[in-house]
This record gives sequence, structure tokens and C-alpha cells, in this order.
Amino acid sequence: MPFHPNGLTSAPSGKVNPRLDALAHAGGPILTKRIPSWPYADPKDRHVVSYDEYVKTAGYVGLRKAIALKPDAVTEEVKKSVLRGRGGAGFPTGLKWTFLPKLATDDQGREADPGVRYLAINADESEPGTFKDRLLMDFDPHLLLEGIAICAYACRISRAYIFIRGEYHHQAHVLEEAIKEAYAHGIFGPRGLLNGADTARGGPWAVECHVHRGAGAYICGEETGLLEALEGKRGWPRIKPPFPAVKGLFGRPTIINNVETLAHLPSIIEFGGEWFTKHGSPSTLGPNVPGSFGTKLMGVSGHVNRPGCFELELGVPLRVLVEELCGGIRKGRKFKGAIAGGVSMGILGPDQYDAEMDFDIGRKYNVLGLGTACPTVFDDQTDMVAVARNISRFFKHESCGQCTPCREGSGWLFQLMSRIEEGNAKTKDLDLALEIATSMGSMPGTTICGLADGNNWAVRTIMNKYWSEFEKKVKPTFVPVKVSIGANAKRAVSAGANG
Ligand SMILES: Cc1cc2nc3c(=O)[nH]c(=O)nc-3n(C[C@H](O)[C@H](O)[C@H](O)COP(=O)(O)O)c2cc1C
Ligand code: SF4
Repeated sequence: MPFHPNGLTSAPSGKVNPRLDALAHAGGPILTKRIPSWPYADPKDRHVVSYDEYVKTAGYVGLRKAIALKPDAVTEEVKKSVLRGRGGAGFPTGLKWTFLPKLATDDQGREADPGVRYLAINADESEPGTFKDRLLMDFDPHLLLEGIAICAYACRISRAYIFIRGEYHHQAHVLEEAIKEAYAHGIFGPRGLLNGADTARGGPWAVECHVHRGAGAYICGEETGLLEALEGKRGWPRIKPPFPAVKGLFGRPTIINNVETLAHLPSIIEFGGEWFTKHGSPSTLGPNVPGSFGTKLMGVSGHVNRPGCFELELGVPLRVLVEELCGGIRKGRKFKGAIAGGVSMGILGPDQYDAEMDFDIGRKYNVLGLGTACPTVFDDQTDMVAVARNISRFFKHESCGQCTPCREGSGWLFQLMSRIEEGNAKTKDLDLALEIATSMGSMPGTTICGLADGNNWAVRTIMNKYWSEFEKKVKPTFVPVKVSIGANAKRAVSAGANG
């Protein structure tokens, strides 16, 4: 595969693609700088980065810089970067950290003991079509561990649990080995971060870090379901408030962040929050809307020639992602649509191929949001009714069953989608399906968590954007109309009026 002199891969045609040049920012990739990846380098050269290699390539520099700052100054830097959560909701990370209870200080400015606080790292990655966190865990586990250490210091957290989906056996093993290395080199452990180094907070700060394997339920990726599962219970989401930052794991203040979110912290602290905002784009929705800054891992699957996970600046148009990086739609076919970023986000229709992959996507293109920024692409031969039926089956299977609208609604939607696909539905079933979808979810205020919203957005946007395909599969609903002619008409009308 030919490579551009600055490490940027040329287009499949062999010519250097100016658009790719523009995509690659001057400093090269950030999250994947040690993981050779398109368009910067050849994925064939990938290997697990050891502690020694990590340190030789400026690893743990961000952590050293972090502990030289007061914890609140670290949080300020993260706020300045406008880093938004990469787990799906896009909530600003620094702001989330400020929801932890404030600590009292004595007259010499020393903080009170925060007691036990937890960091739960969301490595569940169970959103269909999403495969981005695993790239980091497969090859550069210390990047995540450094991010964990920085977050723990900033938030005065002493225990971190990486909650990893059950199917990620290999990734769990890689992480466990890396954690052993990190303990052996004094990153974690009772002496304190970086072998008990003094911190700007005063004295060392000790962090323990463990891997906890999930049992394979989608709902355990929802943050409060995850906490229940970590406590050894069934992964049933909790009603909020109280929010985890106040009362989370084992009733203690807890921060929950996604793997990719935490992996951004070392560079943000090393180069500064402002540096981070040089990548990506400000919001186009107004000055009060947080921008889409930094790079994002985008895992593309579906009907493309070369699926894969790419690190690009937020804001790259979907068309560029598919055409330039994935070699276009398979068999030369046309684009029909794409799940925006995990099935919960709904679908981008045929006329939305140029949608910018940033956090404004929800309001601009009538999807729920950017989600995990891992699109599943469909070609023009795809049966969208089958897609809706398949997705509704997933949600029916994964609903935890606590809330009636989600438990029953997900079952009804699956039944209706199956009936439509089989040709046994009537026109009125289309309205019924839309009504059920619209009325379920934490946003209409009928459920505890967002799983039902995901079900709603997926089914509703597919139906709305491919309405004619659904209409073709249903039989018309006949509404009985009483027609009275001539002399009988008056009697029929007056009988109707009386009766
Ligand atoms: C049904 C459901 C499943 C979710 N699954 C995941 C997941 O697998 N991984 C993840 O990081 N976030 C997932 N989330 C989002 C988390 O609840 C939470 O917002 C996220 O972990 C917060 O981290 P962040 O702020 O760093 O993005 C899910 C949310 C819902 C409603
Ligand atoms: S919305 Fe669905 S998945 Fe979420 S708590 Fe309620 S029943 Fe469970």
C-alpha cells in the first residue's frame, strides 16, 4: 500500500488524495499514534504496546504533568478542551467531573479526606456496529491506564474498575497484563501514582485499578446498569436522581467515563486544552452549544469495500469517510442510508450522505445524535423493513423489562415490524407502530433509561425516511363508510343522528 511521505496513506487509486491530506492534522493521529491505522499508516504493523515502548514514546508524560497541577486545575484543562464523552451521549467530560461533591478545606487550604470514590470505566462496547474502544484495548492499553490515572487524580478517586463486555476475552487479557506492568512500575498501587511521587495536592495519591468482566448484556453499558452489575447484581438501570457523581457505586461518589474519552486525557494534559480545540469544529448551532473538538475513532461497517476503524477529526462528512477511507460502497452500488453511530441513534437517509460526523448531527439531520460515531452503511439493495425488524428484535431481546413502555413496547414493535415484513400488516399498523415508538423512552418521560429512546429513534427514523417501502408491504385498511342514496338518505342521516 503506498504511503504519503508524512505518513498519510494515499487513496486506493495510488494518487495522494488532497482531501485525506486535509483530514490529517499536522501532528498526525492522537489516539492511534502508537496503533498504525489508515489513513496514517499500515495496520499490518500493529502490535501490543508494552510499558517500556509506551514510556519511550512519551507515555505517562501527561500523568507527570497532571500531578504537578492541583486536581481542580486538571479538571479546568479538560473543561477548556471541551472534550465530550465518546460513549454515546457526548456530555462534556470536565463538567461531569465538577458534579462530584465539593471537599471542604482547612485554613491552610488542605482538602478534607474525600473517602472512597470510584471511577467506572465503560468498556462494555455493546452498541451494535460499534468497534472503537476495542482498538485501543487491543493495542495500546497503557493509553487507557494513563487516562484512568489522570482522571482519578483530578477527581480524587482511589479505585477504578474497568467494566469490559464479556465477549472481549482477549482485550480483558491485554488489559490485565498491562495493569500488572503498571503496578510493577509504580503507576498504580498503595505507594501512590508514579511510585509515590509528591503531588500538587500535597503528598502522594494512590489509585487501585482492576478489570471486571461483564456477562454480555447490552443494558450493562448504560451507566447505572453498569454500576449494578459491578456491585454483583442484575444489570438493572437505576432511577436518577441521585446521580452517580453523588451516589454511585456502593453508594459512593462515582465517575463513569468511556474508554475513548479517558484515552484522550494524556494528550489534553500534555499539550493543553486549547491545543485540543484546534482539531475538529465549533458548533454550527450557536455560540452556546459546545463544539465537536478533537479527533474521534470511527468504526465503519456494512456494505463498504474496506470496513475499519479510523481516527479522524470530528466533522468529517460521512461521504468522505465512506468514499475515501472505506473504498466506497461495495459492488459499485449507491448509498441508501447509514445508522449514524450505533443503532440507537436512528438512520441517516439517502439524501444525508454528506452529514458531518459531529455532535450537531442530531439536530441537523433528524437522528438522535452522533452516538459512538461508528456508522453501519447500507447499499441500495437493502430491504429497510428487514433492517427495522432486525433492530427491533435486538431491542426486544435487550430490554431489561423494568419499565412497562419499554418491556411491552419493544415486543409490540418487533411484532409489528415482523408482520409488516411478512406482508400481513395493514396501513393502520404503520400509524400504530409510530405511535408506540414515539411514546416510549426516557425523553417522553416514560422509562428509566435511554434504551427505549434508542428503540424509538431507530424504528421511527427508518419508517419515516423509507415510508414508501413500508407502505408497499402493507394492505390498505378499509374504513367502512355508510352511503345512503335517494329517499332513504334522509332517514339514514336522521337515524345516525339519533343513534
Ligand atoms: C442502553 C445504553 C447502552 C449504553 N452502552 C454503552 C456502552 O456500551 N459503552 C459506553 O461507553 N457507553 C454506553 N452508554 C452510555 C453510558 O450510559 C454513559 O453515558 C457513558 O458511559 C458515559 O461516558 P462518557 O461521558 O465518557 O461518554 C449506553 C447508554 C445506554 C442508554
Ligand atoms: S427503559 Fe427498558 S432497558 Fe431501560 S430500565 Fe426501562 S425497561 Fe430497562
